[in-house]
Amino acid sequence: MTTEHDINLAHGGNLVHRVATPEERENFLEKGETMPSITIDERAVSDLVMIAIGGFSPLEGFMSQADYATVVTDMRMANGLPWAIPVTLSVDEATAEPLKEGMLVRLDDANGRFVGVLQLTEKYKYDKSKEAINVYRTDEEKHPGVKVVYEQGEVNLAGPVWLLQRDDHPLFPKYQIDPAVSRVMFHERGWNTIVGFQTRNPIHRAHEYIQKCALEVVDGLFLHPLVGATKKDDIPADVRMRCYEIMMEHYFPQNRVILAINPSAMRYAGPREAIFHALVRKNYGCTHFIVGRDHAGVGDYYGTYDAQHIFDEFEPGELGITPLKFEHAFYCTRTSTMATTKTSPSKPEERVHLSGTKVREMLRRGELPPPEFSRPEVAAELARAMKVAQEV
Ligand code: ADX
Repeated sequence: MTTEHDINLAHGGNLVHRVATPEERENFLEKGETMPSITIDERAVSDLVMIAIGGFSPLEGFMSQADYATVVTDMRMANGLPWAIPVTLSVDEATAEPLKEGMLVRLDDANGRFVGVLQLTEKYKYDKSKEAINVYRTDEEKHPGVKVVYEQGEVNLAGPVWLLQRDDHPLFPKYQIDPAVSRVMFHERGWNTIVGFQTRNPIHRAHEYIQKCALEVVDGLFLHPLVGATKKDDIPADVRMRCYEIMMEHYFPQNRVILAINPSAMRYAGPREAIFHALVRKNYGCTHFIVGRDHAGVGDYYGTYDAQHIFDEFEPGELGITPLKFEHAFYCTRTSTMATTKTSPSKPEERVHLSGTKVREMLRRGELPPPEFSRPEVAAELARAMKVAQEV
């Protein structure tokens, strides 16, 4: 008999669980008043959650100096396991100074809520421009991921963490499906191959096309929109989730698709983030992962297919999840169907594709993106949300 554990193994072999038990929680709450405390930002809270639920397996806490150093330079943890993005907790020197290695440190969110505990094993300084150049391929401060690195503190605090408790997501409780649960769901559905889809944008027809092309060759599709911190001009997560609900209702076969939220923050690290996104979906139980054009990119920092090429830097099987790579998809007016240049003989003027910026401009003017680009129900929802936002 197979169990959910036979679904693709978590990265490193074991799904991490760092949510405090009721006893641990009680103990932490008792000690919480006297523990040294630090306030962590939205991204660190989402990292804490991802570590605790196993989404970042094998990480059990914020990265040590040894892991950080090799992740930055070699895309590997100190033990050689692939890992592409530093997961660190940075504070300024004055905050770090009184904290001593071995201490339990209380982690409060921006509202002063006690959300977790860090067992401090190490504090270390790090080179921000080295991190920027290696991870983001640029040290320009206007890159939104690099900006975060430059603005954060100079000292990284490392060590295992506990999440005090796993709360329901305030906006999307129904779609809060943690890795331990998605694995059970895949197993219950009898799916052996599952493709994960990362997204931070409203679903359009090119997304739908590559999702469905992928689904043609695997058992199930795991739609996994990112709902953690994004840059200000990205469409808010609640609007994007409503678009997905519409798609689930009208355009997807319910028995082949699961919609769930990914609580992480965006880094906009393009190729490096594609590896990271794939490993996270492996932890949710996916066997395959979609990588399209300019995955996790921003501006023109990355080549259109850099996020696909980076997978070739690993030996086959090392990542434990297979990328499904898609060329730039568009609506082809000559063949009246979605396509890429692999499948369509069209000339450039016969291809309908709009950039996110163009779509936002159209919506601001009160125009709807055409049905070749966006399903009409989704276009209407985006227009409605834009109108509400403009009235505020
Ligand atoms: S991302 O930052 O999460 O990558 P987005 O939500 O736009 O942004 O993309 C989600 C996935 O769809 C990524 O793998 C991306 O490469 C892919 N994608 C987006 N648009 C297209 C397109 N027109 N053709 C092919 N792939 C695309």
